[in-house]
Amino acid sequence: YVNFPHMDTTATRNGDLVLNRHSTFITREHDFPPAKAMLYAAGVPNEEAMQKSPHVGIASAWWEGNPCNMHLGDLGKTIKDSVDREGFLGWRYNTIGVSDGITMGNEGMRFSLQSREIIADSIETVTCAQAHDACIVVPGCDKNMPGCVMGIARHNRPSVVVYGGTQRGGFSKTLQKPIDMNTPSEARGAFILGTLKDWSKDGKYSAEEIISDIEKHSVPGAGACGGMYTANSLATVIETLGLTLPGSSSAPAESPAKLRECERIGEIIRICLEKNIRPRDLLTKKAFENALVMIMAVGGSTNSVLHVLAMAKTAEVNLNLDDFQRVSNKTPFIANMAPSGKHTMEDLFNVGGIPSVMKLLIAGGLLDGTAMTVTGKSLAENVEAWPSLPQGQEIIRSLSNPIKSSGHIEILRGNIAPGGAVAKITGKEGLHFEGKARVFDKEEFLCTSLDNGEIPHDENIVLVVRYEGPKGGPGMPEQLRASGTLKGGGFKNVALITDGRYSGASHGFIVGHIVPEAAVGGPIAAIRDGDVIRIDAENHRIEMPHVSDEEIQERLRTWKPRRLPVTRGTLAKYAHLVSNASEGAVTDIF
Ligand code: FES
Repeated sequence: YVNFPHMDTTATRNGDLVLNRHSTFITREHDFPPAKAMLYAAGVPNEEAMQKSPHVGIASAWWEGNPCNMHLGDLGKTIKDSVDREGFLGWRYNTIGVSDGITMGNEGMRFSLQSREIIADSIETVTCAQAHDACIVVPGCDKNMPGCVMGIARHNRPSVVVYGGTQRGGFSKTLQKPIDMNTPSEARGAFILGTLKDWSKDGKYSAEEIISDIEKHSVPGAGACGGMYTANSLATVIETLGLTLPGSSSAPAESPAKLRECERIGEIIRICLEKNIRPRDLLTKKAFENALVMIMAVGGSTNSVLHVLAMAKTAEVNLNLDDFQRVSNKTPFIANMAPSGKHTMEDLFNVGGIPSVMKLLIAGGLLDGTAMTVTGKSLAENVEAWPSLPQGQEIIRSLSNPIKSSGHIEILRGNIAPGGAVAKITGKEGLHFEGKARVFDKEEFLCTSLDNGEIPHDENIVLVVRYEGPKGGPGMPEQLRASGTLKGGGFKNVALITDGRYSGASHGFIVGHIVPEAAVGGPIAAIRDGDVIRIDAENHRIEMPHVSDEEIQERLRTWKPRRLPVTRGTLAKYAHLVSNASEGAVTDIF
């Protein structure tokens, strides 16, 4: 990373600590007058502010067309007011954003993972180019989360993350029960099979009426998808990494608690500036170990693996897939939260939220409470006064009575995935699966096959979806349609494996992130219809037991790389730069 000139952290001006350590190089007396002319025009109020006030960038992933992002501009305004109250100069700007919920299942989804890199690029670019002294980032949707952390880890200037917050749950009038953003995909599966009408208890509503009701009421307002899906998983991770105020990940988007959090951010960024707390001071190996414990305890999405690896790579922390397995082995899975369980982040907020879970894990010796945070205090100090989880609540189990005694994430290796693969095994789906391969060279072909009723219910089948990795997709598009259809269609006899990703809302026997991917000639490219595939979560294996390594090599000898589906534009750039999924699929490792 570029090393920009900055004032020493102990430098003083008239006895006061210098807080505008970077911007002072463009605002000090008689230097760079055009810069100052531009800044006065933009709103610097007077000479004193020009000389002394730190410049604080406020980067939100605001945009109107997505519930996860549509309110972030308003949060950014509240944050700016709190920054101004400290006598600092808050400069709001936007990154981009892509909605996973909207792009899911169409070509737009190929742009989702690479949006993470563009968000990081934007924050690094604006902070460094404009000589900002500090940075507040306001992410809301899946890729916003790691993208913002990667951005602040790259520039490494005092920073705070404010999560946009989770959405409220919806309610279906036709089904007379709570629904969420996962319900439409599952309803689609039932619709195709002709069983959706049965979802309505008294048979009063037609399938069309049920679908229409679900579409209109699954997402009742602003905020990210409500279960422990990817955005909420990453928000939880980022809070555990110490980059937010306590409670940021569980406070709903439209709650007074979220507003209060935004009103305190000026005070927190002052602490970070005065104590010179920088992102990489917090993003230590200890902090990442804590984050992995939290992922396992609450059942975070498999996407967390990819994004945590990317954040660690960016912060130059040595973290790899084996760390996930090691922590998974020793961490009990205790959260009854969607998609594998039934509760939402809002439900968890109502019983204390993530700080109460942290308190439980610190008391149980699983989280290291000495890790430091943006408040200038440790995790343990932050949650000391927080209420413990109340007796009788059903969302978080006790450590002595977990849903599963180890974590739900399994790192698998074997002759299909010598570079690793990621499975989410909650125990409900069993630990072993063996079946015959049905190979699809894109998710859409599998979806067509499912729609045509070509996947039987009475035979164990491993559905292989390939050429969907970071390079091959390109962009490792998230897959939910097929797994949602399988769930809605009541399939109990299938496993899904892919070099792509699954949505955080997916559940069932699924394995993703297979490395090396098919597009670079990984062994997944050598699988043929009818090959027996064995998934053994107990021994962390994914393999073709009856196909030798020599046979795989022989098959790959005739394999030819495919022309990438795109050769120009942002996705082509991405496909050429991206690293493999086991390295977080980042674009700045050379
Ligand atoms: Fe934004 Fe789910 S689509 S969090």
